[in-house]
Amino acid sequence: MKPYDVIAIGELNVDLLLNRIDGFPEIGKEKFAGDMLLTLGSSTAIFAANSAALGVRTGFAGMIGRDTFGELVKRSLRDKGVDTRFVIESDACATGATIVMNYGEDRANLTYQGAMDRMRFADVDKELFALTRHIHLSSVFMQSGLMQDLGELLRYARSQGVTVSLDTQWDPAETWNFDCRTLLPLIDVFLPNEKELMALTRRATVDEAIREVVPYLGNAAVVKCGSRGSLLVRRDGSVHALDACLNRHVVDAIGAGDSFNAGFVRCFVQGRPLEECQRLGNLIGAVSTTAAGGTGAFASREAVVRTAREVFGQEIDL
Ligand SMILES: Nc1ncnc2c1ncn2[C@@H]1O[C@H](COP(=O)(O)OP(=O)(O)OP(=O)(O)O)[C@@H](O)[C@H]1O
Ligand SMILES: [Mg+2]
Repeated sequence: MKPYDVIAIGELNVDLLLNRIDGFPEIGKEKFAGDMLLTLGSSTAIFAANSAALGVRTGFAGMIGRDTFGELVKRSLRDKGVDTRFVIESDACATGATIVMNYGEDRANLTYQGAMDRMRFADVDKELFALTRHIHLSSVFMQSGLMQDLGELLRYARSQGVTVSLDTQWDPAETWNFDCRTLLPLIDVFLPNEKELMALTRRATVDEAIREVVPYLGNAAVVKCGSRGSLLVRRDGSVHALDACLNRHVVDAIGAGDSFNAGFVRCFVQGRPLEECQRLGNLIGAVSTTAAGGTGAFASREAVVRTAREVFGQEIDL
């Protein structure tokens, strides 16, 4: 019996959220924000935190600096029940940070990638592959070190009998340099959203984009479609559309995709059928929209069970 169900490998940073800002930043001038919050950031960390909240034994392998932000990242992961023994502290660079300037529904982000951009596969302790059933990767375009070694990492995971899920997330440079032919066959669950899949395959519709990736799928892909739900795509080309769980009072959709991933993967590592994984993914994605931020709805297992029951009328056993 392996001690971890899932180890997330990748990006770790902090988010400094500034709200109620009196205008846009200007060179040579000082502006004020009415409110500020310093918190654990990154898609992969939201996945890991919410995965732990669903009762999945979750670890993290990522790179931080030996600094105050790094301490905050580690403490936040631990507080959320995520094991940090594989987190690497680098002396060479600082922990990454994103300054998020919120203007109503819109936001301007400024990121220093720092340590998370530097991590290479050679830095990752290979022992973790013997200790986990599954690994999850996200935001690969934001991690140039890991991206260079992605093929090697995926092949190693396969050789160790460890299954893999991967969410590309958006490519900020929009070059979409991701070789589907060589990488997709090594990924058990591919988890892009519809815009990302179209950009990645350079196709104008989701249907065409799906047709493009089907021949290379290692096992399955799930295409996330926001409030319209998700599409489960199998290697034989069949597509199963599942409507989202209706939430009439969406607080925000931050981290809905990562929460979907956490729900899907929870079911997947238990060896459940893919359609069941998709159902839990949709439900957990919807649960995420009931509270602020990516982890607000995941304070505890009980909180998730209660939200599923009271808001969505669904009983889940976590
Ligand atoms: N407004 C909503 N109401 C109900 N469920 C939702 C809503 N928005 C998202 N979901 C659920 O969460 C899943 C993932 O959301 P979404 O498609 O926004 O992912 P994403 O684009 O990858 O998001 P992220 O910005 O977190 O990366 C959807 O497939 C859906 O099941
Ligand atoms: Mg996403």
